Amino acid sequence: MEKKWWKEAIGYQIYPRSFYDSNGDGIGDIKGVIEKLDYLSYLGITLIWLSPIYKSPMDDNGYDVSDYYSIASEFGTLDDFQLLLNEAHTRNIYVIMDLILNHTSDEHPWFVESRISKTNPCRDYYIWKEGPTDPTCGFNEPNNWASFFTPSCWEKDYNTGEYFMHIFSKRMPDLNWQCPEMREELFEMAKWWLDLGLDGFRLDAINHIVKDTSFSNSSMESNSIYKPDWDKFSNFAKVHEHLNEMHNTVFSGRNVLAVGELGSITSMEQILDYTGYDRNELNMVFTYDHCFFNNVYDSLNTNWIKENDIIGLKSAFNRWQTQLYKKAWNPIYWLNHDHPRVISHYGDYVFHEKSGKMLATILLTLRGTPFIYNGEEIGMTNANFDNLDSYKDVAAISKIEQLRNEGYCDNSILNFLHNTSRDNARLPIQWNCSLNSGFTSGTPWIEVNDNYFLINIHSQIEDDSSILNHYRKLISLRKSIDFKDALVYGSFRLLIADHPFLFCYTRKEKDVTLLVFNNFSSNFGTITLPELIHGKVVISNYDSYTFENNTLDFKPYESIVFQLFLKTV
Ligand code: GLC
Ligand code: CA
Repeated sequence: MEKKWWKEAIGYQIYPRSFYDSNGDGIGDIKGVIEKLDYLSYLGITLIWLSPIYKSPMDDNGYDVSDYYSIASEFGTLDDFQLLLNEAHTRNIYVIMDLILNHTSDEHPWFVESRISKTNPCRDYYIWKEGPTDPTCGFNEPNNWASFFTPSCWEKDYNTGEYFMHIFSKRMPDLNWQCPEMREELFEMAKWWLDLGLDGFRLDAINHIVKDTSFSNSSMESNSIYKPDWDKFSNFAKVHEHLNEMHNTVFSGRNVLAVGELGSITSMEQILDYTGYDRNELNMVFTYDHCFFNNVYDSLNTNWIKENDIIGLKSAFNRWQTQLYKKAWNPIYWLNHDHPRVISHYGDYVFHEKSGKMLATILLTLRGTPFIYNGEEIGMTNANFDNLDSYKDVAAISKIEQLRNEGYCDNSILNFLHNTSRDNARLPIQWNCSLNSGFTSGTPWIEVNDNYFLINIHSQIEDDSSILNHYRKLISLRKSIDFKDALVYGSFRLLIADHPFLFCYTRKEKDVTLLVFNNFSSNFGTITLPELIHGKVVISNYDSYTFENNTLDFKPYESIVFQLFLKTV
């Protein structure tokens, strides 16, 4: 298998707004990232993914870009960014940034122009349609497609009376990829960033750039007028043509990384179409495959109880680990800025340290490029807001409005957002026990989680048995001469696939075989694994473990990496 820097990298996603505020305005910034580079080096990070820092009115915290060539003033300047690149590179850390090509902000000059008149030269850069001709259809928009963030994906513009499409917020109009001049401008812009020395991109919502150009109504069954029929704008064959063109014009000949984000459901065949080594499109893609194996999204029900489906979770990982083997590469991640905190999701607050370490073990022992999401390394938890006004995310704000209209009381909505909101992952990073968790000397843009006294980076650095130090140890194991090939490139085999809460697998490359044991429950128990007969513990999350021959007496959230020897040594 071809070795690449990005296959061996240890990734870390920074949500700049919430990472570290260097000037006391309550908003994290580029200088704040620079100040913390030594910390990231200490952790063992070799690749940073920066969520967007482009100029933006911040309707969606920067995923709504109004100028692709400049930096939002609250984050700093282009000089700051250049300094960040240099400082990161000095520490052997690569840097990639979000690249948002599905839509822009409504303040982008292209859109400002586009909406002026039907004949404006930028009109065709966006998707414009007239309202329906059939007055009995039950809606005013061009069709009945829903948006991810709002009921309809169309918004009427009063200048020309036509509707523009937006699959996210109404302040984020979708670009029209059928327009060659627009594509050309995007590709030029991407090259400009790579020429500055950037090491690649995470291509936001990239599988949505092409729409069903018949724009015909969805016939999906659902109670709502507007149908959440994401197939109307996902994974069309034409996306692959565009990505191939982008590969040839932008990425080819440069040693850079292109990671795509595929929203909505995507099959393994589709993933291979995007990432296959023979495809010349993307190096790897993030999907949401492993994110839905507990029922948190049902938590509007009054008698809801959280339940993890570990068999489902294992099968999702298994699909990726086995079906892409030798054909394509993949990232491994637990959460990003769009998900609840993983410890509140698949871990357990009561077993905070043990479950945090177990999640770390899985992240760093599967095949793929691991991406730690900032704060995950200390087991940061979901927000515990007691007021709906504390939510800042544009998606949460429209959800609150929608659920209130549907008759839900504020308490039910609060419970739902406690479990699902994207803001859960966007609270300020908990650096230490000082005011505002050491994130800012001013007023933070979003409330700090008050558990920062217990959970913070400073105290976990000091404590050798902390979650953070477990991440460090696992990272150095993954980089070590002895285990790197098995952990980064090795084959994967799932054991006891039907076990309801144990996740066990082997990783193997040449003569090194590892067996990874994880208990996704608070249960004690005993398990016999024939492979263990010649096993030696490499790392574990308890001080002591009880295993003899092939039988292990396990404890809550226990996680052990064994090395297996075929012959007794
Ligand atoms: C992606 C981003 C998300 C953003 C959306 C629109 O899904 O991860 O944060 O809201 O695209 O850009
Ligand atoms: Ca700041």
